[in-house]
Amino acid sequence: MSETIYDVPSAWSDKAWANDARYQEMYAASIKDPEKFWGEHGKRIDWFKPYTRVKNTSFEPGKVSIKWYEDGTTNVAHNCVDRHLAKRGDQTAIIWEGDNPAESKVITYRELHAEVCKFANVLKAHGVEKGDRVTIYLPMIPEAAYAMLACARIGAVHSVVFGGFSPDSLASRIEDSDSKIVVTADEGLRGGRTVPLKKNVDSANDKVKGGIGTVIVVRRTGGNVAMQAGRDVWYHDEAAKVSADCPAVEMNAEDPLFLLYTSGSTGKPKGVLHTTAGYLVYTAITHQYVFDYHDGDIYWCTADVGWVTGHSYILYGPLANGATTLMFEGIPTYPSISRFWEVIDKHKVNTFYTAPTAIRSLMGAGEEPVKKTSRASLRLLGSVGEPINPEAWEWYHRVVGDRRCPIVDTWWQTETGGILITPLPGATRLKPGSATRPFFGIRPEILDAEGKVLEGACEGNLVIADSWPGQMRTVYGDHQRFMDTYFATYANKYFTGDGSRRDADGYYWITGRVDDVINVSGHRMGTAEVESALVAHPSVSEAAVVGYPHDIKGQGIYAYVTLMTGESPSEDLRKELVAYVRNEIGPIASPDLIQFAPGLPKTRSGKIMRRILRKIAEDEFGALGDTSTLADPAVVDDLIENRQNKR
Ligand code: WTA
Repeated sequence: MSETIYDVPSAWSDKAWANDARYQEMYAASIKDPEKFWGEHGKRIDWFKPYTRVKNTSFEPGKVSIKWYEDGTTNVAHNCVDRHLAKRGDQTAIIWEGDNPAESKVITYRELHAEVCKFANVLKAHGVEKGDRVTIYLPMIPEAAYAMLACARIGAVHSVVFGGFSPDSLASRIEDSDSKIVVTADEGLRGGRTVPLKKNVDSANDKVKGGIGTVIVVRRTGGNVAMQAGRDVWYHDEAAKVSADCPAVEMNAEDPLFLLYTSGSTGKPKGVLHTTAGYLVYTAITHQYVFDYHDGDIYWCTADVGWVTGHSYILYGPLANGATTLMFEGIPTYPSISRFWEVIDKHKVNTFYTAPTAIRSLMGAGEEPVKKTSRASLRLLGSVGEPINPEAWEWYHRVVGDRRCPIVDTWWQTETGGILITPLPGATRLKPGSATRPFFGIRPEILDAEGKVLEGACEGNLVIADSWPGQMRTVYGDHQRFMDTYFATYANKYFTGDGSRRDADGYYWITGRVDDVINVSGHRMGTAEVESALVAHPSVSEAAVVGYPHDIKGQGIYAYVTLMTGESPSEDLRKELVAYVRNEIGPIASPDLIQFAPGLPKTRSGKIMRRILRKIAEDEFGALGDTSTLADPAVVDDLIENRQNKR
């Protein structure tokens, strides 16, 4: 296989935090003596009480336990805000760019401090105490950052729910986290259209056992919303009653910082729990080295704060480093398809971090909408969320970056807290489509199905052999599920759920999920979630959902549906089912294709053979494999005959 390789530009190797020699040296040191390496790098944050123990972790079956800096105390909001005040109080912390290009504002570190304190005092006034969970269901407005940091300041545990999730999904997350308080906005604004956030909270309320205690509503659009007396309060009214000063609570390194629900291969989304100090150290060091962050850089990550990328690389990593981080409310195509590049020019963005799906959809419109902007400020590009195909990589490099900007293809997960496999721009020769090499302290291995560690160039399942400070600590309320999901497949290793190839240069090429998780436009979706939404519909008897290759989204959602006796397939029912799933989970879960099938391929013991369904959806009939074990091999012929066309 011929490979293009991009050398490190000398301007980068000379000035970056790490050139190749430095990377090799630091990586070797981090693997040889993790205690020493992380002991030194733990000092990049302020401590109230310094730690004496660095690493205390075990992946041992049945006894998984992960603790970093366990006897130290600190506070995340102090580190992201207060400690910068003396040196950079007047520096911009957040540049906010509204959905409407006429709306933007800058928030200095000093202003951020006052806003976070006020938000913290409002939460306190409504009874929030250390350890309490707070659900945040907000659009991409500065208040989302204030609310998250306010929780961190008083030791409350935030659970941010993406604004695109339905009332049902929101309700199950409120209930699972046992949040007494929900912070929301009247409406969100995306691409010129409003999103009825408060209304969704009202609907969710009816589904939460005992209802929601208090709803704090931020005014964003001024749209008309119903306020329920005794439960709902306007944030601006409450903020007017409190002081702009609030002490940062002393937190143990291992006290919870946040929960973030994410899809797995089975059952309902799980609450991924991250704790205080290790997470902050890890997001800060990765933000510094991966994006080669230097004072004065303008840094923009286009993710939503509802996803882990927004947590770690809009908020915590950059602010821990005293950076200027851009927060964008809108979408790449509004008011025009040049919006990203216009925002880059408007705010002189140096580093731009986005998802392959965005690149692929913008590629479709050709070069002109990009080329008509300057982008002269850009120095570095980043990619995250799904494998980036070499064509999209090359376009990003040539058209967006004018061949001048390295691309960091960063592989990581909600569970890992921060980036694990990635190039460093001053150190790593790039191969389009490869996430390249492990970050400091990360020990990737590739195993075969039996758990044998493969050496050299190979392909198999990706595991991580030892802990790193940003790793998730547990599934909220279910440590057994944590151990079963991540540590039971291979003893003493963290199983990522991803497959990977490793080439002769030791570069990793992530091939995608090997479990029943699909990645739609960089959003993780458990096929089981979509299936349970479908079978909740009265006309549906059985459903099986798989991914299939989609030009823009990476993967699309392909659903096989069998109907109840007496129901018959129709276009109307197809539309109704799509709408039903949107309503149950949210627009990101809408099936792209629904195939009505008289039966699903099952083994004689009644297990659905997903392998076959995947192959049909992928249009690979020739590769169906052995179908002789099927209870009724004839169903396969019908499935093939009636396969839905891609888009
Ligand atoms: C996929 C997002 C290839 C992968 C940060 C992983 C990637 C899942 C990449 C986690 C990448 C993320 N190359 N695949 N650079 N980045 N993935 O939890 O399958 O939303 O397991 O975290 O996205 O998705 P999550």
